[in-house]
Order: sequence, then structure tokens, then C-alpha cells
Amino acid sequence: MRLDVVTIFPEYLEPLNVSLVGKARARGQLDVRVHDLRQWTYDRHNTVDDTPYGGGPGMVMKTEPWGDALDEILADGYETGSHGPVLVVPTPSGRPFNQELAVELSERPWLIFTPARYEGIDRRVIDEYATRIPVYEVSIGDYVLAGGEAAVLVVTEAVARLLPGVLGNAESHRDDSFAPGAMANLLEGPVYTKPPQWRGRGIPDVLLSGHHGKIARWRRDEALRRTTHNRPDLIEHCEPSAFDKKDREMLSILGWEPDPEGVPHGRFWRRPEGVEE
Ligand code: ADE
Repeated sequence: MRLDVVTIFPEYLEPLNVSLVGKARARGQLDVRVHDLRQWTYDRHNTVDDTPYGGGPGMVMKTEPWGDALDEILADGYETGSHGPVLVVPTPSGRPFNQELAVELSERPWLIFTPARYEGIDRRVIDEYATRIPVYEVSIGDYVLAGGEAAVLVVTEAVARLLPGVLGNAESHRDDSFAPGAMANLLEGPVYTKPPQWRGRGIPDVLLSGHHGKIARWRRDEALRRTTHNRPDLIEHCEPSAFDKKDREMLSILGWEPDPEGVPHGRFWRRPEGVEE
């Protein structure tokens, strides 16, 4: 996979040299190229921003540097045999980035990221390239960062670990929380390793039992427990057919009721905390 990142802070992308992404680059599984947007400015001050039409606070990134940068990167990529580029535009106004989108992007041979600073990029740039290649405007969460570079690091890491051969074991992402197509998206429960005692704290007995069936059941119960606590919305959205008899027993212990009146599609429901019957 080829990745191009155009930014006014190339140093911000240094973490792409480290750990999983760094190793994937060293092995030739990822071809990452970070470009300084100011390379495509031609004035003395290397200006990349200007005041917004219509007034208001902040600055807007100018069309010309982005247009020249993207034209050159696309031309260079096509010339050197790359194909199928998509533009990934990090913005708090984008669609939520999730595991499903990570999988979709991991199937593309060439991603071009355009992290912006200030109030964002002049809209005409996005509209122009959307006529030529697929454009994904993505948000990594409901908060506003000072720029899109951290979002590029997040998306890159989520995508890179899905590439064939990047994680040691292909099984490793089958059980990921949020794996698309899973019957139920549950959060993963707690994990333990040696030593068996630490500061008076032991390991749940079942994990030492060697009984694979019981261990799988325990893990599932812990996943239900953690999901109930941290992401009850995931339980509410689950198809009821995703839950077996033992799941239903655990859900009942955790305060969930199947198919109460008024809840669509027979899904599970739990009385919100502090609300009396
Ligand atoms: N740029 C600023 N905030 C962002 C967010 N939440 N996601 C993606 N890009 C951003």
C-alpha cells in the first residue's frame, strides 16, 4: 500500500517510523511519503492560509498549494505504477472513522491524506478532487483537534495492522472489538499474564483450569459485563439472535430485559440508572 501525507508539520508524522507502521515500512509492505505543503508555495512567506470569505474567526487553507501538491503527487504516483488512489480528509465534520471504514481503506492500494490546520481547507479543493477520485472525509471522534495530523496517525495505524502480513497472526483481528460482520460487537474483556500473584492479586481461577469451554464462556461473560458498563449502546443495537441462552442469563444478571414493549425488533433494553419502575 502507498500512503502520501501532505502537511505543514512533517515532523508530526515521525511516529510513522516507529513500531508496527515503522516495521511495515521497513519490510516494504507500506510505502509512506510525507510531503511539506509549503513546498508548493511560491511567495516569500510560504503562505498556506488566508481569511475566510463571509468573515468569521480563524483562517482557511488556500486552494493553490493543495491543488499543486495533489496534482504533483497523483502524477508522480501514476508514473511510478501506483493506481486506485483515494483522498482521506481528516475533519471533525467527517463521517465517523470506525473499524468498518478501516477495513474498507485497507483494501485500497493508495491513500492520500490531507490533514488541515486552522479552520480547514477551501471547499473547492475537496470538490475538485471528488470529481477524479473517491474522497473520504473522516472524523476520529466528537472532539476538535488543532489539526488533522493526529487523525492521520490514528487512521494509518488502524489500517496498517489489517494489511496482510503486518500483524504476525491473521487470526489476530478476527476477534477485534468492532470487527465488521461480527454477530455482536462486544468490547473485549480483561486479560492477564504471569506472575500468578501480584500485590496480593491473583488470576481468575477459570483461566488456570485448562477447561477451554469454561474459559470461552467466562470471556464472553466479561465482554458482556464490560460492554454493559462502557458501551450500553452496543448491546441495544445487537440483533437478539446474536445472544445464546448463556448470554441471555448474563444479560439478565446485568439488568437487561429482552423484547420489552416498545423496543423495536425485539432488542434488549435496560432501565437507565436512577430511573424507578
Ligand atoms: N481535525 C480536527 N479534529 C478532528 C477530528 N475529530 N477528526 C479528524 N480530524 C480532525
